[in-house]
Amino acid sequence: MRIDIITCLPEMFKGTVDQSILKRAEDKGLAQIHIHNLRDYAVNKHNQIDDYAFGGGAGMVLMIEPIDKCISKLKAERSYDDIIYMSPDGELLSQGISNELSLHQNMILLCGHYKGVDERVREHLVTREISIGNYVLTGGELAAAVVADSIIRLLPGVMNDETSALTDSFQDNLVAPPVYTRPADYKGWAVPEVLTSGHEAKINDWRFDQAVKRTRQKRPDLLGDESNN
Ligand code: ADE
Repeated sequence: MRIDIITCLPEMFKGTVDQSILKRAEDKGLAQIHIHNLRDYAVNKHNQIDDYAFGGGAGMVLMIEPIDKCISKLKAERSYDDIIYMSPDGELLSQGISNELSLHQNMILLCGHYKGVDERVREHLVTREISIGNYVLTGGELAAAVVADSIIRLLPGVMNDETSALTDSFQDNLVAPPVYTRPADYKGWAVPEVLTSGHEAKINDWRFDQAVKRTRQKRPDLLGDESNN
């Protein structure tokens, strides 16, 4: 999988996509993340990438030309399954969407800034729009890092324990069951006995029951409301 991220703040990806699991995925050759600085595609000698909104109003708008130049260059090199614009009014990211995107070969994540991008970018260049939540960030960079992380960790071979991504919270519309590690007893706070019984079937049943119970307690919206998947 290859993810190309287009941004006017490439420094924001230091410490995110070059770390932890994403780094490991790159080192193993399972995923590549390429960051593209929109400034490199600026239209004039002033390195301009944004301008005032037609019709007036506060805030700058990212111009279509640098974005089009960058996307066209990338599209000339390979085909893309999706060109995704990170936006608070996009479809809300869910485990279902991450699962779907994890099957993509190549995708572009376009980060907005300031007032956003010229609407014609959304009309003519973008194929999908994703929000990571009902709040407004200063730009799409953090959202793009969240999307990249949630997708790449699903790729076979990225996680140490292959089954662990499949047993995550939300994977079956259930939150994850509780987990414990040594010591089995700490200050009299004991680990549930079944987990130290060595009885695999009983442990699986217990985990499933706990996941259902927890979902009912913490996220009842996940049970029965399809719109949350
Ligand atoms: N850009 C600004 N806010 C955002 C959000 N909530 N999700 C995705 N991109 C954004």
